[in-house]
Amino acid sequence: MCGIVGYVGDQPALQVVLDGLRRLEYRGYDSAGVAILTEGELRLAKKAGKLTNLEKALQDEPGRFDGGTGIGHTRWATHGGPTDRNAHPHVSSDGRIAVIHNGIIENFARLRATLEASGIEFASDTDTECVAHLLAFEFAVVGDLAEAMRRTCIQLEGAFTLLAVEAGQPGRVVGARRNSPLVVGRGKGENFLASDVSAFIAHTRDAIELGQDQVVTITADAIEITDFSGVPVTGRDFHVDWDLAAAEKGGYPWFMLKEIEEQPQAVADTLRGRLGDQGEILLDEVRLTDQDLRDVDKIFIVACGTAYHAGLVAKYAIEHWTRIPCEVELASEFRYRDPVLDRSTLVVAISQSGETMDTLMALRHAKDQKARVLAICNTNGSTIPRESDAVLYTHGGPEIAVASTKAFLTQVAACFLVGLHLAQVRGVKFADEVGAIVDQLQAMPGLIKRVLSTMDGVRELGRSLASQSTFIFLGRHVGYPIALEGALKLKELAYVHAEGFAAGELKHGPIALISEGTPVVAVVPSPAGRGFLHDKVVSNIQEVRARGAMTIVIAEEGDEAVVPYADHLIRVPRTPTLLAPLVTTVPLQVLAASIADARGHDVDQPRNLAKSVTVE
Ligand code: F6R
Repeated sequence: MCGIVGYVGDQPALQVVLDGLRRLEYRGYDSAGVAILTEGELRLAKKAGKLTNLEKALQDEPGRFDGGTGIGHTRWATHGGPTDRNAHPHVSSDGRIAVIHNGIIENFARLRATLEASGIEFASDTDTECVAHLLAFEFAVVGDLAEAMRRTCIQLEGAFTLLAVEAGQPGRVVGARRNSPLVVGRGKGENFLASDVSAFIAHTRDAIELGQDQVVTITADAIEITDFSGVPVTGRDFHVDWDLAAAEKGGYPWFMLKEIEEQPQAVADTLRGRLGDQGEILLDEVRLTDQDLRDVDKIFIVACGTAYHAGLVAKYAIEHWTRIPCEVELASEFRYRDPVLDRSTLVVAISQSGETMDTLMALRHAKDQKARVLAICNTNGSTIPRESDAVLYTHGGPEIAVASTKAFLTQVAACFLVGLHLAQVRGVKFADEVGAIVDQLQAMPGLIKRVLSTMDGVRELGRSLASQSTFIFLGRHVGYPIALEGALKLKELAYVHAEGFAAGELKHGPIALISEGTPVVAVVPSPAGRGFLHDKVVSNIQEVRARGAMTIVIAEEGDEAVVPYADHLIRVPRTPTLLAPLVTTVPLQVLAASIADARGHDVDQPRNLAKSVTVE
């Protein structure tokens, strides 16, 4: 939520900052702004709307923003509407300090009242502007921007990443973080600060992870990090293992399409090095001992949105393979209740970004009660893995489209690894299945690829459904979370009403929604294995069809029983029941994107959303 970039070096800061903001725009696109230090002055430009609005405005002022020090911001509005005046940066009353912010200052109303009582006039409705005034006040006392930042931070409550520049200090950007992300990019004769590494990946892949409650100062040649009391600390160095090409569209019209196509590779990368030749799961990197895992008597999976759906899929597999009770809960609910946890509880926190506030707070809630926390995460250097006892990185590569696709499949694959590893370590009843499942998992990237090669019909179907205003998604067993995920994708991309239901729940209410022509998407389980589930869903399809529904059926190749009841049939390869979500999700992603595109929407940046939800 909100993207932040800072730069000091020999390159034109404006260009570096704008390039960085373009890569961070997925974090919010309500407004954008920059502050550049040039000739001892602070030059500011900001505009409501997407980054292109700012870029157009800047074209009218060539040369005004020359300089090698700057900060930039792309906003997802919290306090104050998405207007020019609420766009960041915000400046102190004397116009000498500019600040950008990601997060929420929870005590801002009190701070604002005190500042107004002392005669300060506010120029915006944001919580951030308080910080600019506080910084100016502290700077006037101590004359040092980093110290002023430390003195300011201890007055703030809530979540924040802050970057600030001061007119009289060219060549210096000061940052601070609490509960929101900030990474340092280490260059040669130049340094960077950003919400995530994609902002500076074109310049350097050497990064430093900042800890909680730390202040960082970058100049062209130095990086200094302290805690809020001024004690020097060392950040954790890491090297980014993907390059610029991974963060670019590479010829695709949208990032989402590219990321859908990358799924076979992404899942292969999640599995790579973790499946042994003898059918064993190799998860040494997880940092929980076998004894820790043998002690687990209950699992909670906590996550939000699409990651929560990955957790729902995982529950079926984990309970089946390990016989350990597994609950899946929305992090936003878990964090505010009293779940029964202790040292033998394993909490699995799933998050692509590693920064989702509710998931982070849920993991802290779990740790407070001595549970062990394992993070499944895609983003190196992010907060959730850093605060967890153990981490399994999904290695899915950067996901830039706001709607999650490859992150979901890789989260599901990573959860399978965790379940199989637990089963193996504990030697329980189904442990002997593990070897066979390892082979089946190895085959999944190839099967996902096959699904992708047959998507033309789905795209055409999407275009033909573009004017529909409501959709129902049905599934049973692991197909149920996939129905939820299909509905979520459609809501967020196409802005149409879509609901996912457990097919068995239909008769308990939702069937009243069906009228003539209502599109119903049904995810049909394999007729092999648990054939009874298949037959139940086929009956549910008949029931909605009898009431006028237009049925869109996702079923295995060779499943002829569905043919008479499918107005539209989407085939997926034969897959073991528990692994089926890795293939059945794909057509639903393509369908949602096609409908959204046909309706004229921006597929990568849906309205009102941001990729990384770092506020409550
Ligand atoms: C939907 C989507 C969101 C995220 C959710 C959690 O397409 O992307 O629902 O899944 O905001 O995000 P992470 O995984 O970063 O914690």
